[in-house]
Formats: sequence, structure tokens, C-alpha cells
Amino acid sequence: MKTVVITGSARGLGYNMSRFFREYNYNVVISDLNEENLIKAKEELEKYSSEGKIAYKVCNVSKIEELQELMKFAISEFEKVDIWINNAGVNQPQKAIWELSESDINTLIDVDLKGAIFGSKVAMEQMIKQGSGAIYNIEGYGSNDAHMLGLNMYGTSKRAVTYLTESLAQEAEERNTGVIVGKLSPGIMITEFTTHSLGNDKIELADKTKKVYNILGDTPQTVGKFLVDKMVTNTKNNVKINWLTNSKAFVRFMTAGFNKRNFFGEDQKLLTDENEKK
Ligand SMILES: NC(=O)c1ccc[n+]([C@@H]2O[C@H](COP(=O)([O-])OP(=O)(O)OC[C@H]3O[C@@H](n4cnc5c(N)ncnc54)[C@H](O)[C@@H]3O)[C@@H](O)[C@H]2O)c1
Repeated sequence: MKTVVITGSARGLGYNMSRFFREYNYNVVISDLNEENLIKAKEELEKYSSEGKIAYKVCNVSKIEELQELMKFAISEFEKVDIWINNAGVNQPQKAIWELSESDINTLIDVDLKGAIFGSKVAMEQMIKQGSGAIYNIEGYGSNDAHMLGLNMYGTSKRAVTYLTESLAQEAEERNTGVIVGKLSPGIMITEFTTHSLGNDKIELADKTKKVYNILGDTPQTVGKFLVDKMVTNTKNNVKINWLTNSKAFVRFMTAGFNKRNFFGEDQKLLTDENEKK
């Protein structure tokens, strides 16, 4: 039986990828900052039948020792890790660079960039010993060099994550590690991430932004399923698994008049479940 470890998986994309890996009978190790949320997520995931087991461990990805402990835990539970996904991430307050506090900047870089660097290092060390495995990092706004006021540190991190992942893939191949490395590009998902910065503070979305999100955005269930279906069959190094392709975005805009999805209720309450089938 295969095993996947996913960081930041108590909710959002990480949780939903865990759910779909269960459908493929993977053992799943979920991890996040808060134990209570992990227990709840495990209970929910157990409702989806699978031959795989679920284990959880608290892990702050900005601390390499905690990622090392997470890997040790996964190996002690399941002996081998087949897929490791550096998924944990935080959105940023919509501020210009000079308006951000030192602490905000540190958190954004520590989680969004260093979390992926440390996670990649820890996963690679173990997978080299195994002689096999796959590591995936998550792209995001800025990965393709787009710029927007208020997404400076997030974009800096995600652009670097793209470079990091491609470098790691090249090194893995040149050193004949047997490990493959790839990028997951989830497009726009309507999650707590969309409406909150640094995990907590509410972001007031402009009506124009909500309109675009209703056209281009998807639930983390839809995107999670797509990404997992591709990961379980992928054998190639240096792939990009891309949900929102340019052609998909073009079709979405052309058919926007027929779009019935509205992800945002009163006070920006998320209505993702109601929109799942639309
Ligand atoms: N939502 C989007 O539109 C979108 C678009 C592109 C990329 N992404 C990326 O997808 C990934 C998942 O995003 P999401 O939308 O599911 O967000 P989310 O906020 O729903 O989930 C992120 C999870 O990461 C956890 N987390 C935060 N800091 C952590 C830390 N230091 N250590 C461990 N866990 C931590 C949170 O507790 C949360 O459970 C992120 O890397 C994000 O940048 C999101």
C-alpha cells in the first residue's frame, strides 16, 4: 500500500487531496498547526471508505525539526513515503511591501517559501534512501511572474517555489536519485485562504474580485480530485499539473453569462459546498 504525506492538510486543498488519495487506497498522513483541527479532519476523512489508514501529526512547516519529526512519524507508521506534498501556505494582507510588518514578512517567507524548501529537503533525504518517491510543491499567484498590489511577498515566495521545484527536479535527475519532483498549479480555489490573510485576518474582497473568483474559481474538492488523479499515475520528473489552463480560463470568460456559481454569501461566508456541482 502506498503512503502520502501532505502538509497543511486539516482543511482546504490539503484536506481534499487527502480525501481523494483515500479513494486510491493510500495511507494518508495529514499534518497542520493545530491538533484539534487535525483530529476533526481525521474523523471526517474516515467517513470516506478506503483500505488505507490515516495518521496525523502536528507540524509547523517553518521549522525544519518539525518536518523531520513528521517524516520520522510517517516512516514509523508506514515504513515508506511514496508521495510528499508541500501544501501548507498562507495568504497575505493586501498591503504594499513597505506597509507590511517585519513579522508579517517573516511569516510569509517562512511558510510559503522556506516551508517548501525545508519540506523538499527532508523528503528528498528520505526518498534517496528509499530509491524512489515523488515530491510536489504548490504554485500560486506570482509563479508565472504576474504582479498585483498586495501580493508581493506571497508572489515572491511562489515565484521562488517554481524555481526551487525545477532546480530540485534537475538535481534529482542528475544525481540519479530515482525521485521525481513536480509542480501542482491549482488555479483559484475558494477556501479560507481566499478570505483570510496569514491564516486569521479577514480580507475584504472587492465586488469586482468576487466576480472574477466566481468565474475562474473552483472548490478545493474539484481541484483536489483533478490533482490527485494526475499524481497517482504520474511517473515523469519535472511535470506541471495545471488545473486552470489558459484555454480553460478563456472558455470560462466566454461563457461567464451562463455562470451560476456564487461562492460568497453574506459577510463573505463561503458557500463552496452549495457550488460544488454547478
Ligand atoms: N486558494 C487559492 O486560490 C490558491 C491558489 C493557488 C495556490 N494556492 C496554494 O494552495 C495551498 C493550499 O491553500 P488552501 O487554499 O487550501 O488554503 P487553506 O488556508 O484552506 O489551507 C492552508 C492550510 O495550511 C495550514 N498552515 C498555515 N501555516 C502553516 C504552517 N506554518 N505549518 C503547517 N501548516 C500551516 C493552515 O492551518 C491550513 O490548514 C497553499 O500553498 C496556497 O498558497 C491556493
